[in-house]
Amino acid sequence: MKTEILKLLRESGDYISGQELCGKFHVSRTAVWKVINQLKEEGYGIEAVQNKGYRLNVNPDVLSFSELKSRMRTKWAGRNIVYYEETGSTNIDAKLLGEQGAEHGTVVVADKQNAGRGRRGRSWQSPAGKDIYFTILLRPEFEPDKAAGLTLIMALSVTQAVRNCCGLEAGIKWPNDLVLNGKKICGILTEMNVETDYIQHVVIGTGINVNLERMPEEIEQTATSLLLEGGKETARARLLQEVLERFEENYESYEKDMSLVSMLEEYNKYLVNKDKQVRVLDPKGEFEGIARGINDLGELLVETENGKIVKVYAGEVSVRGIYGYV
Ligand code: BTN
Repeated sequence: MKTEILKLLRESGDYISGQELCGKFHVSRTAVWKVINQLKEEGYGIEAVQNKGYRLNVNPDVLSFSELKSRMRTKWAGRNIVYYEETGSTNIDAKLLGEQGAEHGTVVVADKQNAGRGRRGRSWQSPAGKDIYFTILLRPEFEPDKAAGLTLIMALSVTQAVRNCCGLEAGIKWPNDLVLNGKKICGILTEMNVETDYIQHVVIGTGINVNLERMPEEIEQTATSLLLEGGKETARARLLQEVLERFEENYESYEKDMSLVSMLEEYNKYLVNKDKQVRVLDPKGEFEGIARGINDLGELLVETENGKIVKVYAGEVSVRGIYGYV
């Protein structure tokens, strides 16, 4: 009922009488009053005016189970939400849920992680109240070699969401990072559980630097936040809602075509490595070339000095810009 009341208040933008709420949920005035108080405790400004009812004042940056649940309009991505005020790592939580049989599209969200994990064994700083840390659990029915595309789909979905919600020109640094004005704003860590030749489950963990006023010193040269670049706060739940909506749509296209064909043009438009000199860190041998975009399998096409196009597969290697981070 809390989620429903929140949704009604947000969508109406006006006063809703206590009587109307009682009638809708077949509960007493005291029960409604209790829910309103719980919402206030969670940080919502709710005005209560005699003879008029309740009105949601501002839409603060609340990231809570009720806020997320009341926003979800997707079919499966984030329909099942597991929310923690604090956890170790949402990727670990999601993997555990995967083993316990949680449904496709389950999303684990945390306001704070105390053991946030980055790629290559690095950590991901995850302070409370500022950023987005979430992991989506997927049970794809396709072959494991198609799973690398999922990271690219998440990168595209976050880019689209940041552009729509914040009006900021985020770009993609193939395959796992999002950048804004040359600095990282988002990282993605995809982990897969494969049984011989089929995917048990995949978890895609995403960290977005949203409302941090200052980046930690160790990363301030290469990382930034949406607030630092755009100058205004973003409501994290709204942004996450948009990410999940975009992700569901993009994932369904990928499943249907079994390729990135329908997203290719947009992806390549946002690709910050495009037509830039890159160094490919391939365990079989590093090389340099000019990135020309991705193909519909998600491979980065790198043109080497002798004009040859090398297809670089996201699962095996990463690329570095040779002039700085991008
Ligand atoms: C990177 O190194 O760029 C990837 C960072 C991924 C961080 C996210 S935050 C949510 C999820 N939980 C984790 O422990 N890591 C991912």
